[in-house]
Amino acid sequence: MTEPTAQSTDTQPKRVMSGMRATGQLHLGHWVGVLKNWVALQSQYNCYFMVADWHSLTTHYTDPGNIRQHCLEMVLDWLSAGINPEHAHLYKQSEIPEIAELHLLLSMMTPQKWLDTAPTLKDMISNLGIEATHGLLGYPVLQTADILIVKGELVPVGKDQLAHLELSRDIVTRFNHVTQSEFFPSPQAMLTEAPALPGLDGRKMSKSLNNSILLCDTDSQTTKKLKQAITDPARIKREDPGTPENCEVVYKYYQVFAPPEEQQLAAEECRSAVRGCADCKLRLADMINAQLAPLREKRTVLAQDTGAVKNLLNNNVERTRHEAIKTIRKVRKLLKLGS
Ligand code: TRP
Ligand code: SF4
Repeated sequence: MTEPTAQSTDTQPKRVMSGMRATGQLHLGHWVGVLKNWVALQSQYNCYFMVADWHSLTTHYTDPGNIRQHCLEMVLDWLSAGINPEHAHLYKQSEIPEIAELHLLLSMMTPQKWLDTAPTLKDMISNLGIEATHGLLGYPVLQTADILIVKGELVPVGKDQLAHLELSRDIVTRFNHVTQSEFFPSPQAMLTEAPALPGLDGRKMSKSLNNSILLCDTDSQTTKKLKQAITDPARIKREDPGTPENCEVVYKYYQVFAPPEEQQLAAEECRSAVRGCADCKLRLADMINAQLAPLREKRTVLAQDTGAVKNLLNNNVERTRHEAIKTIRKVRKLLKLGS
């Protein structure tokens, strides 16, 4: 993929739009895979970062009670990780009703067969064992409306979202064709280069699998969790030499969190059995805790005044809504709606 440039043709910084489902407290994987990237992008681009609470309802409509709390926890993590509301727009999807109107209008021109084949949804339905509702089927159309309402040009996402983005581009092509306009830009994916971080048990890191280290865990919780992480399965006794390449969790984390000389030292001492796994994990825990310390401190402070965080979100939403209203007015005009 070619490296996107930061500037639009009109010399304004390009618009970056991305979102996260409201899943609550975030884990290390979100930090290295998403948040660090967002923090880097916010100073270079015009960024829109959205809490996708409607998207959470597509699968969790039976227990919406938690969604508000989940949004708050997630925003606490965003802010603690360095997302700065003075640089980026931060808002909740459900506070921008124009997204819903755009979703409806786009759904009129999205053929059902484009949605039937969306691979991520099929996975969701089979993994969660849930019924495909109208809302769930429209998941990628809603996501398209999220992007287009702020005329997003670049969309930082993981590989699993590439198919959705392709669908967004197809919808844009159709909209622009139907309205004989070039109103919407064609949104491009910005793939994050960060390696995927496995969970402590070697499966995908996920809060629901209970194999993750949360950003808001304490140092001792982090250390305790790391003690349970899987290591080279062939290293049974302390004096057995190990193979770091077969140590799919702990050594992988070294590659992400340890400076190169520490990585090398760990690998050598593992191979020669100078270092035992327990010690190896303790050193790793110290490094991770040290890197998370500023974030955790900030989170503790923010969590003491959630009212301020809510206010911050409320103030921020107005700026985004202003953009959204401009977009939807133009869309209504292009589709000959309204008076
Ligand atoms: N579907 C995305 C996910 O599950 C979250 C999301 C919602 C999103 N709206 C978006 C991502 C708009 C990018 C752009 O991760
Ligand atoms: Fe993994 Fe470290 Fe144990 Fe080697 S010593 S197997 S790298 S945990």
